[in-house]
Amino acid sequence: MSVLSARDLRVWYGTSRGPVRAVDGISLEINAGETLGLVGESGCGKSTLGRSILGLLPRGAVIDGELLYDGQNLTELSQRDFRRLRGPEIGLIFQEPMTRLNPLMRISDHFKETLEAHESSLTDEEIRRRSLDALGGMGIPPTRFRQYPHEFSGGMRQRIMIALTLVLRPKLLIADEPTTALDVLVEAQILQILGDLKKNADTALLLITHNLGIVAESCERVAVMYAGQIVEEGAARTVFSQPAHPYTSELLRSIISLKTTELHYIPGAPPDLADPPNACRFHPRCPYAMQVCTAKDPIEVRAETGQRVLCWLHGPEEEIPPGGKAPLEREAIAVAEEA
Ligand SMILES: Nc1ncnc2c1ncn2[C@@H]1O[C@H](COP(=O)(O)OP(=O)(O)OP(=O)(O)O)[C@@H](O)[C@H]1O
Ligand code: SF4
Ligand SMILES: [Mg+2]
Repeated sequence: MSVLSARDLRVWYGTSRGPVRAVDGISLEINAGETLGLVGESGCGKSTLGRSILGLLPRGAVIDGELLYDGQNLTELSQRDFRRLRGPEIGLIFQEPMTRLNPLMRISDHFKETLEAHESSLTDEEIRRRSLDALGGMGIPPTRFRQYPHEFSGGMRQRIMIALTLVLRPKLLIADEPTTALDVLVEAQILQILGDLKKNADTALLLITHNLGIVAESCERVAVMYAGQIVEEGAARTVFSQPAHPYTSELLRSIISLKTTELHYIPGAPPDLADPPNACRFHPRCPYAMQVCTAKDPIEVRAETGQRVLCWLHGPEEEIPPGGKAPLEREAIAVAEEA
């Protein structure tokens, strides 16, 4: 059962350099009880996608396409409708918990305020029970319920913040780099908690990160994003063992090389999304680039291993013009562009 489904979703930011196409034609499904990892280098549009699901795009951003949640197209909702959804339906785990925890309020008051805002019929006793259950699930004992945020470590504050999100029992949770600011041990704890979440509830989780190791440990499916597009999507196990897109292979080499202590960088940098390369956006950096890759937009196909992929190496053959498979002469292109 899909909780959220995106069809040809587009988000553009208006800038003085022209529109920045941060999300450019994305289609994606997230199912109940499933964790979907969204990975890709910095600036490829991951947070923009997450923010569009929460109605948190900045003023001036243009959104188009379909983003279906519970029969409603989120791209057409007003901010008022979003305020109703955010929290009890779609929850957000922030990167920096202190931005949400008020230093002057006890933890108990944070829970009371959150629950009262969305479930006004609850009694004080029900509020207390629900809060302590949520905190207990995050390993925070009841004895600490009346303490203030500064009395907790960074990792505990992050767990309190997750409890504050989960206490409303959302159907969909968006976690944008939830562990980036934390040390490795705390990160492992939080991941364990997020992993337990899907065992205990039907909550679907979109986990945004540029850490592929985290995805390998905690996600069933993974979507790889490059320059505003999903270039590969499928079962995490398959994507990691048999990546179909050259960009995914390059990303994977960057973590595998950590084990061999050799540093591997993907040559070049992600493109400027106000002026992305023609056709396949990865072609300036792709070791397998062919003539067709600079001439025609890749068409989404299923790789033999089952994942969706946006790359001419997987066809469709009938769409590749004669000579299209010849390797790309990079120096020739550079000269042509300069001329
Ligand atoms: N408010 C904005 N106005 C203009 N451009 C923006 C705005 N927010 C983001 N962008 C641009 O949109 C693109 C995608 O940004 P986004 O923050 O979604 O990427 P990201 O994948 O989350 O990156 P990171 O891994 O660094 O968090 C980038 O080119 C970024 O510069
Ligand atoms: S379409 Fe061409 S340039 Fe793009 S990833 Fe595939 S082989 Fe590389
Ligand atoms: Mg981001």
